[in-house]
Amino acid sequence: MADQPAPIDVTTTSVWAQLQTHAAESKPDLRAWFDKDPDRAERFTLQAADLTVDLSKNLIEDQTVELLVKLAEQVNLAERFEAMLSGQHINVTEDRAVLHTALRRPAGQEPELVVDGQDVDRDVHDVLDAIATFANKVRDGRWVGVTGKPVKTVVNIGIGGSDLGPVMVYEALKPYVQEGLEVRFVSNIDPADVYEKTAGLDPETTLFIVASKTFTTLETLTNARLARAWLWEQLSARGIIDDSDEARTDAVSKHFVAVSTALDKVEAFGIDPTNAFGFWDWVGGRYSVDSAIGTSVAIAIGPDRFAEFLGGFHAIDQHTRTTPFAQNVPVLMGLLNVWYTNFLGAHTHAVLPYAQYLHRFPAYLQQLTMESNGKSVRWDGTPVTTETGEVFWGEPGTNGQHAFYQLIHQGTRLIPADFIAVANPARALQDGGTDVHALFLANYFAQTKALAFGKTADEVRAEGTPESIVPARVFSGNRPSTSILAPALTPAVVGQLIALYEHITFVQGIVWGIDSFDQWGVELGKKLALEIAPAVTGDGLALADQDPSTRLLITKYLQMRTN
Ligand code: F6P
Repeated sequence: MADQPAPIDVTTTSVWAQLQTHAAESKPDLRAWFDKDPDRAERFTLQAADLTVDLSKNLIEDQTVELLVKLAEQVNLAERFEAMLSGQHINVTEDRAVLHTALRRPAGQEPELVVDGQDVDRDVHDVLDAIATFANKVRDGRWVGVTGKPVKTVVNIGIGGSDLGPVMVYEALKPYVQEGLEVRFVSNIDPADVYEKTAGLDPETTLFIVASKTFTTLETLTNARLARAWLWEQLSARGIIDDSDEARTDAVSKHFVAVSTALDKVEAFGIDPTNAFGFWDWVGGRYSVDSAIGTSVAIAIGPDRFAEFLGGFHAIDQHTRTTPFAQNVPVLMGLLNVWYTNFLGAHTHAVLPYAQYLHRFPAYLQQLTMESNGKSVRWDGTPVTTETGEVFWGEPGTNGQHAFYQLIHQGTRLIPADFIAVANPARALQDGGTDVHALFLANYFAQTKALAFGKTADEVRAEGTPESIVPARVFSGNRPSTSILAPALTPAVVGQLIALYEHITFVQGIVWGIDSFDQWGVELGKKLALEIAPAVTGDGLALADQDPSTRLLITKYLQMRTN
């Protein structure tokens, strides 16, 4: 086990009790708070790189922030952040450094980062250079398939962090994608996924990237084999290759590359290690889109834009490292999540992008936050001492407005929500004389206003509403939200948003004393799937071995199978 200080039991700190008292005594009243305090909006609106972050519609007073900052100090947050940046093995249960922040350090930073004898800066930049060279080759048509044709479609095969990051960023940065290039993403082991994503593709112009940190993940390796079989079948159906090993190996070398920390396994799969981009065990899967795992993105938007993307992350790393806690956006947002989860009883947290290109951001955040902080033990193996890991969820506005916002506005649960928007759309359209994006953002502004200030019964009555339905039309207000506004959805801003939530997640993990960088909770299901597979494919003994419920379900499944 890594040599790290024991986690501090946050519930035993003096400030925890003060926060409890404060939560019990505080009577959230955003209308009154804004009325009494003309500077509230200004004071609670902060800047982190290009992100303007308005915290003023949260259920906080100055005292709340003071106490939360004290809480961060009492759990040694700054020291733990430095421990991460410097490469200490803060991923205790896996005895590993946690260095995703090193992936975006600009070249030539002083002092150099050497961790466990490894010159991290040099290794990172060597791989970035190799990715840039490769991406340029694909983009300008120098990388060709077996028939000499350039690549038109890249298919990234990965799952979890090897999928969600790249697909989210690709979608977010679609306006920057080189014309004539498309990236598709295969992740699910449901064969429908690989079937649909290869449908209509020209094998001669398709490049597969097999992205897997471990290169052992069942879903990814199965899909990679299916894709390889598809390639061989398609090329041979066109008479381009025969069934010889030589021809097949040649096809794989021109149509498959890999991204992994396990280059030996890449080679065993049949991919030439010279066509593989490495990274390191100190990059967690859900923290890896800025490593070689982002190769599909680097191809799509180009190395220069990819560098800007990394620059965005770094700007937030610097902000987090150097800004006093009281103005530090990731620190305060992480502490606010603690406030809502541990003192005000929230169980979930909505993330609502008012930017269609961010439509996969909530899904991406689900892995980042919930795989990181969904834990019941602390990093020394002792049980957690308070609630951890709220459920993150969301959909882009305005779609969400017409689906689940009812519950956020008038339901019985407290749901803190982050609203994210950009001022300048990549696609500006007019409807008659109306700027449609401005209309879209009117919704963004309106929703947080409605949540914060609500509508009283008197206001409802004043509209002439019949008394019997006044209660149904009252909005309580005092429903917390954070508004994030950026000038545009540039590569840098997307990097900033990701780094923001990475560090929010870190802050919460430190407060709760948990290792936010392991994911043992996904192991049991994976192991059982392998054990159950024979029963599902007709092995009677394996079926008999199952518990009664699982046995019954599998039996029903076998009876239903018609093909
Ligand atoms: O779901 C567990 C997990 O290990 C994730 O943490 C990871 O992102 C994903 O599987 C994929 O892993 P790999 O990149 O090794 O294929």
